[in-house]
This record gives sequence, C-alpha cells and structure tokens, in this order.
Amino acid sequence: MIVLKTKEEIEFIRESAKLLSRTLAEVGKHIRPGVTTRFLDSIGEQFIRDNGGIPLCKGYEGFPSAFCTSVNDVVVHGIPNDDFLKEGDNVTLDCVIDLNGYVSDSAYTFVVGCVNESVQRLLKVTKEALFIGLDQCKAGNRVGDISQVIQMHCEKNGYSVVRELCGHGVGFKMHESPNVPNFGVRGTGPLLKEGMVIAVEPMVCMGSKNIKISDADGWTCRTKDGKPAAHFEHTVAITENGPDILTTFDFIENENNETL
Ligand code: MF3
Ligand code: CO
Repeated sequence: MIVLKTKEEIEFIRESAKLLSRTLAEVGKHIRPGVTTRFLDSIGEQFIRDNGGIPLCKGYEGFPSAFCTSVNDVVVHGIPNDDFLKEGDNVTLDCVIDLNGYVSDSAYTFVVGCVNESVQRLLKVTKEALFIGLDQCKAGNRVGDISQVIQMHCEKNGYSVVRELCGHGVGFKMHESPNVPNFGVRGTGPLLKEGMVIAVEPMVCMGSKNIKISDADGWTCRTKDGKPAAHFEHTVAITENGPDILTTFDFIENENNETL
C-alpha cells in the first residue's frame, strides 16, 4: 500500500531532507586521501545527533553504522572501516535520517583527490540519470517511466544498472511502497500520484550489472567484475507543481552555501 503525504507532512519531510543534505556536505568536507570511512561515519553521526536527528541505518537489520560508505567497486551497503581512502578512489556516502518522525534518504558519490577521467564520467552520467529520473516524478506518470529513462541514459553511455536493488517510497519509514527500479518500461508499474514521496537512486556500474554480496559481512555489495560503481540518490515529492526534490546537493557542490 502506498501511503500518501499531506502538504504539511511534506514540509516536515523537507526539514529532515535539509538536515540530511547538510550532513552529507559536512562529512564530504572531510573526504581526502588518508581518512578512514569509520572517521567519516563518526563525524556524520555526531552531526546528525547534534541537530536532533536519528541515523536510521544504524541498527537496521543489524547494519552497524549511520552511513553506508561504498568505495570503488562497492556499489552500496559498504560498512565503514579503518582502511585509509587513497587518491583516485570514489566513495559513496548513503544515509537515512529521521527528524521529528519524518524520514529522508540521500546518497552522493564523492571523489578522493583526483580521479581518472573514466570514473569522472561514470559519476557524471549516474548523476544525470538521477535527475532525468526525477523529471519523470509527476502525477499521472508511472514508476516505469522513471525506470526506463534511468536505464536508457546509463546504457546509452555504455554503463549497466544493478537489477537487485531499487529506489522506494520514503517519508514515514526508510522503505515504503512502491519499489522504484532503475530498469523498466515506460507506461508500466504503479501510477504516480500527488502526495507520494519516493527515493530515486540509480546504482550504476562501469562494467557488467552483476553484483555479489559479501559472505563475510552479509552487506557489502560489490560489482562481480571489480569495476567501479556509482550511486546518487534524492528524496522527491510528487506535487501539483511536478517533482519537488526535497534533498539537495547544493550544500556539497556550491562553494558559497552558507546562506542556503
Ligand atoms: N540508504 C539505503 C537505501 O537507499 C539503505 C541503507 S541500508 C541500511 O535504501 F541497512 F544501511 F540501512
Ligand atoms: Co534509498
């Protein structure tokens, strides 16, 4: 069952989303060669709690930390650890928070120092795929419309999309209906309606789409071919005025963001 949100509830989710967006930027500032993902997780968790939020990944089905930190060939669900990030890595920070009972979800793939052009292009195309998908988040469209444009954009650029994991409804809980796959066919799937809030999150591989989940920890999801992957995610509300993107990358990407 898809739970619709009122305009007032969407304003509360926007507050949660703003704190989450500020959090990703705050943690992102510390990304450089020589830092560990455990350190990034700890400052991020502190920032969330200092601002009245609750990190929802921590303890979710036994997940141990506030952030998923996914380096290079890790697609999603990387567990923070004591390895040093190094020049040329890419690292995705993925986080879900609750603020005053309202839940938002966002992810961003950062570069560590300078990365090679092929990785830069992967990140660019994945982010483009996210925004092309978000453009489809309009009442009257269907989930398959989002899925198809994401898949098309990635595949026409020579990349593949993960099949096993998808976006989802969000707002009152981390995972709500509907599922929002990153592959599919226009005109199929659940109808999008005003008041729906969803997380759109392309997970894109430079090589083949096949993944494997670590036997060692049961979480870390890697590309089978060992090639890099990227992941960008926004929480978006479907409104009478079209897509209303509640999380933002502006705090990460704009130098003069103090006034946002
Ligand atoms: N943020 C991820 C998502 O998009 C989920 C995190 S999995 C968890 O659904 F276990 F870490 F919570
Ligand atoms: Co999500």
